[in-house]
Amino acid sequence: MRKEYKEYKDIIGDGGSNIVGQVTQQIERLRSRMEKVKHKVAVISGKGGVGKSAVTVNLASAFSMQEYTVGVLDADINGPSIAKMMGVQGQHLKIGENGVSPAVGPLNIKVMSMDLLLPSDETPVVWDAPSQEAAFIWRGTMEVSTLREFLSDTEWGELNSLFIDLPAGVEKLPNVAQLLPNLDGVVLVTIPTEVSHFVVKKSAVTAKALGIPVVGLIENMVGYICLNCGQVGDLFKTIYDGKKMADQMGIPYLGRIPFDPRISISSDKGVPFVLEYSDSSAGKTFIEISAKINGFLGRNK
Ligand SMILES: Nc1ncnc2c1ncn2[C@@H]1O[C@H](COP(=O)(O)OP(=O)(O)OP(=O)(O)O)[C@@H](O)[C@H]1O
Ligand SMILES: [Mg+2]
Repeated sequence: MRKEYKEYKDIIGDGGSNIVGQVTQQIERLRSRMEKVKHKVAVISGKGGVGKSAVTVNLASAFSMQEYTVGVLDADINGPSIAKMMGVQGQHLKIGENGVSPAVGPLNIKVMSMDLLLPSDETPVVWDAPSQEAAFIWRGTMEVSTLREFLSDTEWGELNSLFIDLPAGVEKLPNVAQLLPNLDGVVLVTIPTEVSHFVVKKSAVTAKALGIPVVGLIENMVGYICLNCGQVGDLFKTIYDGKKMADQMGIPYLGRIPFDPRISISSDKGVPFVLEYSDSSAGKTFIEISAKINGFLGRNK
């Protein structure tokens, strides 16, 4: 049957650039680099704005506080926020013989993000294509190629854990799974609303369909911490109970993090919240959740 598209190997004569060879070599580099990374965990939701990046930064930091060597890959090519949240924006990436040295954040956490490669923080990544349809296809292709480069050309070194912060969109996980067939698991993030649950369930189903272990579900922004009175209040009446959803989906429930304005203030400052406020309710929960994730990773490897 005639294919609707061409693969690299179908292109006869590529002007001597040997695209197939280059990509094959890159995949081989990726494989050998990832052999030195004990655990690879993706933080996903499907839903936008629920706190995936903030959760990634704080889980990575909680791991690092336990003296584990940690890396964070910002898989959000078009809206990267990890470099800002980890306070490494503007760090100069050095290119050495073995690849690009990642930026280094608090507690020696290694960070790679598109943000570190763009000339200014106001520069978006756009694809100049003749039509919207072509732009859509090429954007997806470009995202996968960029991630492949980040994974294969970054000198991650020996790591206990690499946390991968995914952008919104249920379709993003298959892209990462294609590059990392031995992903150790996904951590799902939701907020207690019907709209969020609706999308997060799709992500859980996608992960299962791809055969990726679900480490568990984190409920973010449940209740709020009043900085003036110190009281814990209800932000959302938890009709859309994450624990219930996790039970229904047959996935572990990892815990709930309140809405704490200091989380967003710390993110904006580029200092992981959990480092500054490890004794706060949210800080303790991040640490407890990281211990559960660590337990899961230990049991599975
Ligand atoms: N529990 C929380 N309490 C207070 N602020 C929070 C909390 N969690 C996240 N935030 C803040 O909410 C905003 C959105 O969070 P974040 O950027 O992590 O979401 P996201 O899911 O990664 O979004 P996107 O889909 O755009 O990638 C950020 O400013 C972040 O600092
Ligand atoms: Mg994000």
